[in-house]
Amino acid sequence: MADFPLPAAASAADWWRSAAIYQVYPRSFADGDGDGTGDLAGVRAKLPYLAELGVDALWFTPWYLSPLADGGYDVADYRTIDPAFGTLDEAEKLIAEATGLGIRTIVDIVPNHVSDQHVWFRAALAAGPGSPERALFHFRPGRGEHGELPPGDWPSQFAGATWTQVPDGEWYLHLFTPEQPDLNWAHPAVRREHEEVLRFWFERGVAGVRIDSAALLAKDPALPDLAGRPGEPWPGEVHPYIDRDELHDIYRSWRAIADEFGAIFVGEVWLPDSERFARYLRPDELHTAFNFSFLSCPWDAARLRTSIEETLAEHAPVGAPATWVLCNHDVTRTVTRYGRQDTGFDFAAKVFGTPTDLALGTRRARAAALLTLALPGAVYVYQGEELGLPEADVPLDRIQDPMHFRSGGRDPGRDGCRVPLPWSAEPWRNPWLPQPAHWATYAADRQATDPESTLTLYRRALGLRRAARGFGTGSMEWLPAPDGVLAFARPDGLVCVVNLSEGPVPLPGHTSLLLSSAPLDDAGLLPQDTAVWLRT
Ligand code: GLC
Repeated sequence: MADFPLPAAASAADWWRSAAIYQVYPRSFADGDGDGTGDLAGVRAKLPYLAELGVDALWFTPWYLSPLADGGYDVADYRTIDPAFGTLDEAEKLIAEATGLGIRTIVDIVPNHVSDQHVWFRAALAAGPGSPERALFHFRPGRGEHGELPPGDWPSQFAGATWTQVPDGEWYLHLFTPEQPDLNWAHPAVRREHEEVLRFWFERGVAGVRIDSAALLAKDPALPDLAGRPGEPWPGEVHPYIDRDELHDIYRSWRAIADEFGAIFVGEVWLPDSERFARYLRPDELHTAFNFSFLSCPWDAARLRTSIEETLAEHAPVGAPATWVLCNHDVTRTVTRYGRQDTGFDFAAKVFGTPTDLALGTRRARAAALLTLALPGAVYVYQGEELGLPEADVPLDRIQDPMHFRSGGRDPGRDGCRVPLPWSAEPWRNPWLPQPAHWATYAADRQATDPESTLTLYRRALGLRRAARGFGTGSMEWLPAPDGVLAFARPDGLVCVVNLSEGPVPLPGHTSLLLSSAPLDDAGLLPQDTAVWLRT
């Protein structure tokens, strides 16, 4: 299997500072047994594809035992692979085989909550009010004369209530769905268990952990009402459940464990305040966190430049590398987002039937890929991004995402970016989400031999990024450019130019054109919505 040159970065201890990390959503990646659900056998069979694509690591969204009330983010047992995906033995083989190809593995840990089918929660329900089992969660009596009202007013991250009443009358807290009861992080057993889970996976050769909802774990023990204030961080004030200071102590203890194994963390930290965000990235805390400001940024040169500058400025004081992310399993696929009038991303703005120009979106997404891959830091590629997949319209009667149902049907939910990948023109057999008929044109086998395809563009870009030492970590310097054009230099004479203005622009002087997201025009100018990599 090891026909591919191992990346130079794979041997370096600081690989994560410049890594290209591919996000695998196992349910939809590749189906090894033909039952319509992706699995580990499918991933193992596609490792050569991933090696050829040129990624340094794979981040797997949760692959553990789960009733899938929230796509696996409702974990029933961290030490068991869901049988729909395979076995622990297969996971160990997958980690080893990927390592053999120079590809590291990152697993997803969801510390804020567990599944309501987790043994702890079942025991808590059985044990009743006041029991030590209930102390692992946030159980409270209700308000009102008979305790018939919820004990608090926090809104769910998925719309709707955060409290559910159990048959004995008590209520429990869940920031997400009722099937995801929140753990009580003030309880030492909760901390101990997660430290053991980290060790369990590090001992199996995992090189990193993605921390789900990393800024939500700690709660004010009084669970005070928001009383009309927004469920967002309150600048300058302590919020009852977002970004609380207690979190830093938790992550310091996690860091000590990761350091024993030389493993790394990437936190899912959505925080508007960049100083607060950077606190998670201090040298004894998390190595990296996802850059959601860039992911949400509209296709606009000035806005992107500001986002890039702010990102680099906020990371610099703590010495952490930036990450660059265009999409993931929670947000609208890039090709679709950039083909709309509003090219930013906002959960609250998602509705059915938004007009989309896919040709325009594809052109911009290809340019955005070259922009992103040229920036200093680590970069994430979400499965199917390299195929230029658009968001799929999932028929109403097939939607599974709780975000859709909890919004009362207004929000289409996140299934549109989770549809199984088209490996060939032939669709999956009984896929858990239907693949649109026109997706045959995006098939990976077809794109693999097409020099103009988005897959070819990603392969070339990732290959160049790995071979040319000037990309990845290191400095970046803005170059003078016309309005609407982003131009910056990286070490070793590498230059990236992205034209977001309305007409073609001349390129700066260069010795060679390494890669372009679309051809130059007949006059040798860089057309609108096109990016190039140059050597100067
Ligand atoms: C994170 C995940 C998302 C999940 C939520 C609850 O935001 O990315 O998919 O629904 O946490 O665990």
